[in-house]
Amino acid sequence: MKNEKQTEKTSAKGYLTGKEIREIAKANKREIKRLEKYKNRKAKVEEFSTKMKNPDNILEIEDLNTYFFTEQGVVKAVNGVSFDVPKNATVGIVGESGCGKSVTSMSVMRLIQGPQGQICSGSIRFNTAEEGVVYDIAAMPIHEIHRIRGKQISMIFQEPMTSLNPVFTIGQQLDEVSFIHSPGISEEDAKAKSMELLNLVGIAMPERVYSAFPHELSGGMRQRVMIAMALIGNPRLIIADEPTTALDVTIQAQILDLLRDLKNKIDGSILLITHDLGIIAEMADYVVVMYAGRVIEKGTVDEIFHNPLHPYTIGLQKSKPTLDSASDTLFNIPGNVPNPINMPNHCYFKERCDKCTAKCSGAYPDMIQVSPTHYVACHLYGKEEQNG
Ligand SMILES: Nc1ncnc2c1ncn2[C@@H]1O[C@H](COP(=O)(O)OP(=O)(O)OP(=O)(O)O)[C@@H](O)[C@H]1O
Ligand code: SF4
Ligand SMILES: [Mg+2]
Repeated sequence: MKNEKQTEKTSAKGYLTGKEIREIAKANKREIKRLEKYKNRKAKVEEFSTKMKNPDNILEIEDLNTYFFTEQGVVKAVNGVSFDVPKNATVGIVGESGCGKSVTSMSVMRLIQGPQGQICSGSIRFNTAEEGVVYDIAAMPIHEIHRIRGKQISMIFQEPMTSLNPVFTIGQQLDEVSFIHSPGISEEDAKAKSMELLNLVGIAMPERVYSAFPHELSGGMRQRVMIAMALIGNPRLIIADEPTTALDVTIQAQILDLLRDLKNKIDGSILLITHDLGIIAEMADYVVVMYAGRVIEKGTVDEIFHNPLHPYTIGLQKSKPTLDSASDTLFNIPGNVPNPINMPNHCYFKERCDKCTAKCSGAYPDMIQVSPTHYVACHLYGKEEQNG
């Protein structure tokens, strides 16, 4: 894209001239117009219907690119991300702040804030509850997203207080979701469903919570309510973005237990986003490690924890506090993530890596398969090393 070249050109100077700012704005406007037109087009269902590569997966994300067109240039928040979520499995996404975990999940829900934020390319294949019906969410016109958002895929956010409306009771907000997903449902049936779900998420006095306002509940109760709300449409996939970060450790453990339990009850899958490796170890079957908008390693929880390969994943493991550590200081990965507007052409981790070789100044490393389920993008594991 032309505006990418412009930001590269300006990086050497470290500032943008007025002319360059105008050029970026013009290129952004053109690109946004094209993508908005695609997003709002009318399309027949066949145009966004597709096939799963593996029918045992519920979600397949392939080469997803989600960008933000800013005044300074293009932020490639999600840059060629690919991973699968198998049926009845929990997949954890880990990585430090700003690596693109939330933008990936918001892309799946088509909640990227436009016009600045846009899904530019790639596929998000979702295996619906209907036998053989698969949608490419990335190719769906935005007005078709009601087919899956909130029904087949729902999301639990980090801070329930910002997701609940303070002026309505919990009951009103839960019932409202039933009215949206099941048009024609009676008020009694909507209430019965809300009460059933409040019970399911372990709320002891559902009647009291039903008539309470959000501020009258504790943080843990509010998060349970959010989980109940996410379950109303009978989702097959729940995306939980840092669902326990705002809670203390005891409540955190209860909410994680609840999620694990629910996954089995709804016979679905969970995409769990967190920067807490402990939560991943406890909850996930598969792990996706992201760094600066890219997947740098993915595999089963066993592979990532017992045989981490990428120097960043190894660093993440080392920076986790342990009770038996001899040292009284925590390991930290030195350096910073590169500027997202001006990513280097080589490995994004190079400036922070202690295993760097001459090869690392070359092209960005390809994703290499090291076992049927384990993949890594690092020159230390190139094709020759595999053969050797
Ligand atoms: N509206 C926006 N405009 C510009 N850049 C954005 C916008 N929203 C997100 N980004 C950028 O996208 C990148 C990925 O952000 P994201 O929120 O996905 O990070 P994250 O991995 O979820 O981090 P955290 O752990 O802090 O939640 C960041 O570099 C961020 O600055
Ligand atoms: S490619 Fe090179 S710089 Fe990048 S993580 Fe691997 S060893 Fe380090
Ligand atoms: Mg986030």
